[in-house]
Amino acid sequence: MSRTLVKDALNATAAMDAVLLQGWVRTRRDAKAFSFIELNDGSCLKGIQVIANATLANYTTEIAKAHTGASIEVRGKLVPSQGQGQKWEVIAETFTVVGEADATYPLQKKGHTLEFLREIAHLRPRSNLFGAVFRVRSRLAYAVHQFFQQKGFVYVHAPIITASDCEGAGELFRVTTLDPSHPPMTEEGDVDFKKDFFAKKAYLTVSGQLEAETFACALSNVYTFGPTFRAENSNTSRHAAEFWMIEPEMAFCDLQGDMDLAEEFVKHLIRDAKEHCAADLEFFSKFVDKDLLTRLDFVLERPFQRCSYTEAIAIIAASGKTWEHPVQWGDNLQSEHERFLAEEHFKCPVTVYNYPRTLKPFYMRVNEDGKTVRAMDLLVPGIGEIIGGSQREERLDVLRENMAQHKLSEKEYWWYLDLRRYGTVPHAGFGLGFERMLMFVTGVGNIRDVIPFARTPGTAEF
Ligand code: 4AD
Ligand code: MG
Repeated sequence: MSRTLVKDALNATAAMDAVLLQGWVRTRRDAKAFSFIELNDGSCLKGIQVIANATLANYTTEIAKAHTGASIEVRGKLVPSQGQGQKWEVIAETFTVVGEADATYPLQKKGHTLEFLREIAHLRPRSNLFGAVFRVRSRLAYAVHQFFQQKGFVYVHAPIITASDCEGAGELFRVTTLDPSHPPMTEEGDVDFKKDFFAKKAYLTVSGQLEAETFACALSNVYTFGPTFRAENSNTSRHAAEFWMIEPEMAFCDLQGDMDLAEEFVKHLIRDAKEHCAADLEFFSKFVDKDLLTRLDFVLERPFQRCSYTEAIAIIAASGKTWEHPVQWGDNLQSEHERFLAEEHFKCPVTVYNYPRTLKPFYMRVNEDGKTVRAMDLLVPGIGEIIGGSQREERLDVLRENMAQHKLSEKEYWWYLDLRRYGTVPHAGFGLGFERMLMFVTGVGNIRDVIPFARTPGTAEF
């Protein structure tokens, strides 16, 4: 007999004479003549009620072992439920405890704090909240591929180990096999990275963009979807040292087209989650964020706002609010400003574009004013930036000038410059932080709770 998932059993259209269910005991209640067991297998939020009659041959021995957390296997009949709140239940004909769990099982009761659950990240997927988070994560990963594949984008696997710092922010994790206590030295007394594994300094990638650009300049429309790493020592609810990023890159595309795609993409993911993860989203709106569903609908219904950086600075100045970090033209927008724009001023996702050249990486296309670049950040209520992107500088001479300003070596980026030497085209792309998108869709407030095993400063357990 093949296994029936709880999800399929609960959605059955007719009773079934013989089903096999496997999963974990959530709760058990014993009556005189039988026990009720709630079996959950993670296939959906709900568990299924199993009734084990005391007349079962092994009832006494097995029921004694069937504590919360134990894994069990049940064969029996799927019948209409007598109880309330569920359509179907299972009358066990055989009932076996596969793996016991005793009273030390940490998920005995409901209502643990998120902090506690982070410490047991190996068990938290068995809780309602984390089961729901990781089902949504899986579904949206699928939806990412669907969105781009339907549009004819080619999926590119950007390297994880790289020698270049795409964002130029110096937040790189070094990859080395040198002995840290006895590294080989040059005659000048520096560590000799020529003797390292890659014969040069190498790092974990902060972004697959530069490599994606090479593929866009051949295959036209491409995207990456993979892990990226930043040694940013910021202990916030929105930063992780390891996170997943989706980076589309389009040849023959400008900033306008880039912003349009970003909006369509974000809306597609929200729509997909609403359609395919309805029960999980309902759970979030009950227990995590009461306004979640209204907010998602609101976001789907109207166009995102767009405003230039210069306008944004004027709006912030005219707000009359006092800021922890006052800003002037030329300063980075801080989280408080980004959230003000999305939450209070526009009350809707807003794309801020044309940032000062000095704030942004070397690869962004310089505008005619010479002072701003064709950058864009998508800011959403509750989180702030979820997307960063730009049109790329396709003119060789301007790119070289930018690289000189950023003190980047043309020798190191010879291949990137080649894209401008041979058949250069206007092109543009962006990066969506997958975890930030998940926070937006689930209402979960901390990035540590939407990634299976969070890597943050001081934490790499599991
Ligand atoms: O704005 P960022 O740094 O842009 C890039 O990396 C570009 N190369 C993307 C491109 O144009 N192809 O990062 C893009 C997004 C951010 O908007 C944010 O959502 C997410 O990546 N992100 C992080 N998410 C979690 N933890 C961190 N430390 C993050 N840093 C960036
Ligand atoms: Mg950014």
